[in-house]
Amino acid sequence: MSKNFKRTTITSALPYANGPIHIGHLAGVYVPADIYARYLRMRGEDVLFIGGSDEHGVPITIKARKEGITPQQVVDRYHYQIKESFETFGISFDIYSRTSAPIHHETASDFFKKLFETGKFIENTSQQYYDEDNNQFLADRYITGTCPHCGFERAYGDQCENCGTSLSPLELINPKSALSGNVPVLKDTTHWYLPLEDYEPWLTKWILEGHKDDWKANVYGQVKSWIDQGLKPRAVTRDLDWGVKVPIEGADGKVLYVWFDAPIGYISATKDWSAKTGKDWEPYWKSADTKLVHFIGKDNIVFHCIIFPVMLKAEGSYILPENVPANEFLNLENDKISTSRNWAVWLHEYLEDFPGKQDVLRYVLTANAPETKDNDFTWKDFQARNNNELLAIYGNFVNRTLVLTQKYFNSQVPERGELDEISKTALEEMARYPEIISAAIERYRFREALSELMNLARLGNKYLTEMEPWKLIKTDEEKVKVILNVSLQIVANLSVLSEPFLPFSAKKLQEMIDLTGLLWKDAGGDNLLKPGHQLQQPDFLFARIEDEEVEKQVQKLLDTKKENQNAAPAKPAKEPIEFEDLMKMDIRTGTILEAEKVPKTKKLLKLKIDTGIDQRTVVSGIAEFYEPEDIIGHKVSILVNLAPRKLKGIDSQGMILMAEDKDGKLCFVSPTEDFNNGSEIK
Ligand code: MF3
Ligand code: ZN
Repeated sequence: MSKNFKRTTITSALPYANGPIHIGHLAGVYVPADIYARYLRMRGEDVLFIGGSDEHGVPITIKARKEGITPQQVVDRYHYQIKESFETFGISFDIYSRTSAPIHHETASDFFKKLFETGKFIENTSQQYYDEDNNQFLADRYITGTCPHCGFERAYGDQCENCGTSLSPLELINPKSALSGNVPVLKDTTHWYLPLEDYEPWLTKWILEGHKDDWKANVYGQVKSWIDQGLKPRAVTRDLDWGVKVPIEGADGKVLYVWFDAPIGYISATKDWSAKTGKDWEPYWKSADTKLVHFIGKDNIVFHCIIFPVMLKAEGSYILPENVPANEFLNLENDKISTSRNWAVWLHEYLEDFPGKQDVLRYVLTANAPETKDNDFTWKDFQARNNNELLAIYGNFVNRTLVLTQKYFNSQVPERGELDEISKTALEEMARYPEIISAAIERYRFREALSELMNLARLGNKYLTEMEPWKLIKTDEEKVKVILNVSLQIVANLSVLSEPFLPFSAKKLQEMIDLTGLLWKDAGGDNLLKPGHQLQQPDFLFARIEDEEVEKQVQKLLDTKKENQNAAPAKPAKEPIEFEDLMKMDIRTGTILEAEKVPKTKKLLKLKIDTGIDQRTVVSGIAEFYEPEDIIGHKVSILVNLAPRKLKGIDSQGMILMAEDKDGKLCFVSPTEDFNNGSEIK
């Protein structure tokens, strides 16, 4: 390690305890974090690997309300399930804690108090919506109303999902409480804000100048864009009754904002670990010679790179992250993973269908990890990687070597004798792998590291195939001894170097060759298995995955698609309108001529449309569903006499008609035949 760090604190994003864990979680955060932790432990480093459940926040209260149970019951249900999933998949946390634990409430509370007492917050009173029936202030998501920008009637207090504009509840027309359906009233409420803008120069120096080269481009880019847009004060408290109580006088009914308390959960988890092991927690958070690394998904970047560091800096006694290797997202069979649509591979379900095959999933998710861009998980790829890589290369090489050794030498490692050129080269090449794999892992390139591990297996496979010991055994037993000795050294190296990636298979292999307890520094050695050493009975490490097995999984997903269709009854019709009202609307066919993203928005595209009448600009909230270059030339239906509106400073003249699916997916309502632009739709 550079910079002479003495220990490493590895955190992995605390999953919300409001649902089980799926492959997206594993691929994005936990498998890479686990590989890193296991690797460092094998290097003999002092490592603390932290996980835990994030048990606060509004969605958990919404779920509890829906099911008629308490938020604590919701998080209890999922906390244990999640914890078990992680254990089963070999995620080697030193502690898996939770934010509803007393130690966390105390830690988060003290943290807030210290910032409060040292004047690090701005206090601000503003008016917020209050539901008088339920006697509570309404979280942004608990308020719905009409979007002032596009007229969409089911916009939320924080965002209109139709046009993508981010909103504040006060902007909504006809606001309604989602709890009671009543019209909420405005009431004064006081909150505490972290003035992020004060930390801009410091953040610029620390990240934009200090970590330009070592942080991943996707992470650095997001941070830069946030800072370039200008930071604003961020409220760190909420009017809510579920969470860590705001520990100051006159703050009844207020809790810490979930994104304020959750990352402090890493620290509380460390204290939890300390209480359980008797070890001192402080060096892991307070010593300058500790390397702090946060593993997260891309939706967590701003919190881990800006807000939490500002909190740590403001508090003053903590270290800052040395790196935040965030991943992009994993899709499933070409569609976004979604809990509400049940579009996911849940870990507990995977285990039912593929018992004992945790390493296969770990392998596929690493080989196909969304490290630099969103990636797709398909069952076909899963099967191919198992059959053509794990089984055909790694498993095949190991098995051939062990079976031949059993057959020819009663499973005793043969003497090596004189090395020929090919064997010598094979051993030399083998010796380079520990360093190659280390270098990739230390740069957080786990895909590359894994592919190098497979290259070592390939090397072995190729060597064995080329040397053909099964042909030589009758004529040249001495040569066969050399070949199997060399092959066994490669097997032994694989058993060590695989451990971070494929912990279960590595262990099984180590038991088969009766070689345990080796460290990373031992890898590369060409005499790990000594002549005369007795091997155990060989067994298969991997098994073929048949077409039926993956077809079954694909069918399951197709069924989910169907269920979603059926489970989404159409919304009831709106109030009747008069014929004249209809006749007022002027809808035409048109063609998209140009399309580009509206800068600094997620959802908006600026389109140029040929309406037959003219060419005009329309801003449309479809950027999440379509790439600009893919829709140029598309036929559309467009309402041409909608009064122009300004969206993000652009004059939008008209509205493209889109059909909205249950999950919010939008698609064009276009003439199916080739119509002239400007044809009237009536
Ligand atoms: N629960 C959050 C999520 O799933 C992650 C919280 S990470 C922490 O997106 F740092 F806040 F703990
Ligand atoms: Zn809108």
